[in-house]
Amino acid sequence: MKLKILVVAGDGIGPEVTNEAVAVLKEVASAGGHEFSFTEKRIGGVAIVQDGTPLPQETIDAALASDAVLLGAVGGNEFNSLAPDKRPEAGLLKIRAALGGFANLRPAFAFKELAINSPLRPEITDGADILFVRELLGGLYFGQPREWNRAKGEAFNTMRYTTGEVERVARIAFQLAQKRHKKLTSVDKANVLDVSQLWRATVTEVAKEFPDVSLEHQYVDAMSMHILNRPRDFDVVVTENLFGDILTDESGVITGSLGMLPSATIGGKVNLYEPVHGSAPDIAGKGLANPLGAIMTAALVLRHSAGLEAEAKTVESAVRKVLELGFRTPDLVRGDKSGLTVLSTTQMGAKVRETVKQLLASSR
Ligand code: NAD
Ligand code: IPM
Ligand code: MN
Repeated sequence: MKLKILVVAGDGIGPEVTNEAVAVLKEVASAGGHEFSFTEKRIGGVAIVQDGTPLPQETIDAALASDAVLLGAVGGNEFNSLAPDKRPEAGLLKIRAALGGFANLRPAFAFKELAINSPLRPEITDGADILFVRELLGGLYFGQPREWNRAKGEAFNTMRYTTGEVERVARIAFQLAQKRHKKLTSVDKANVLDVSQLWRATVTEVAKEFPDVSLEHQYVDAMSMHILNRPRDFDVVVTENLFGDILTDESGVITGSLGMLPSATIGGKVNLYEPVHGSAPDIAGKGLANPLGAIMTAALVLRHSAGLEAEAKTVESAVRKVLELGFRTPDLVRGDKSGLTVLSTTQMGAKVRETVKQLLASSR
């Protein structure tokens, strides 16, 4: 299997966690005789500093010429006073738009090994397994008009969707639900927003194509409570861009840490893979970052771009195994610390790699 992967590690902990994800992919490639090639390009704050723009054309060209793009994170406090379209985050929105993927899959499942350290009780989270499908190219992030009129002291963004944009992401969500537990929850704010009424009506219409999937609607405010109170009741959850951004960070609490969450964006020209977390300036450069979200993002590259499902599962099993053995990064340690070994980013990466190697060898 041949795969050209563009690595855009970005800022803060982005490079730290991405290094570990790439190392895992190299391990899988060498064990299975696969040819994975890696090219690195700049995005975000590092690109602003070196190229004068958060997304150089060179990075866009390389992304479009690759089979998969693996992204770390962008953003840094030194850029906080810049206008939205000049910031590192603008580079991320631009690469998403250029690649065209509109369905951002964000799986969040509970690890029973982490239950002891969760602020939620084990009987609440045990067995929870939610697949969020976040619409990624519409809504408030991209809607026009938008403006910040400093002189007038007024600013606005537009939450805008077309029927077609909702249909295409809803179809992907229904198809994924068909392969899972056949339940889809669509999240909106249809009691207040016109755009959410269009969303709800469209999802309801698309549901007719999928009679084997049961559909329910939830308002986003109530949903933010339900996912913590009864996370096991949800299977696939589809929602608009900003609601999905917020709900998926929240679902880090179900999994154990924001640093555990991976994502894959499909439906466009080239799939984009990024952990859900950001550049974490508060811990960057200290070896404290949890690389497991980035490593599970690498598993999604194997699943969705390389067609290596068994190897993807092996990487996920290795993560589970390492947690089972009591290895933790600091973000995963809360409450009872007995029997746990706290590791740095690179040590955790090495543990997972070692375990992947063992699992792959024993499966041959
Ligand atoms: P963040 O996700 O970077 O961090 C939130 C909190 O979670 C912090 O306390 C951080 O230390 C912790 N955390 C996050 N990832 C972790 C990991 N892997 N291991 C251990 N702890 C982890 O969000 P923020 O602090 O609100 O934003 C920081 C910057 O990141 C901002 O510039 C923001 O715009 C950007 N951001 C980028 C992305 C992305 O590139 N995909 C995503 C979210 C935020
Ligand atoms: C994410 C991030 C991004 C988003 C930002 C940095 C543009 O929060 O990937 O979740 O809001 O989509
Ligand atoms: Mn986010």
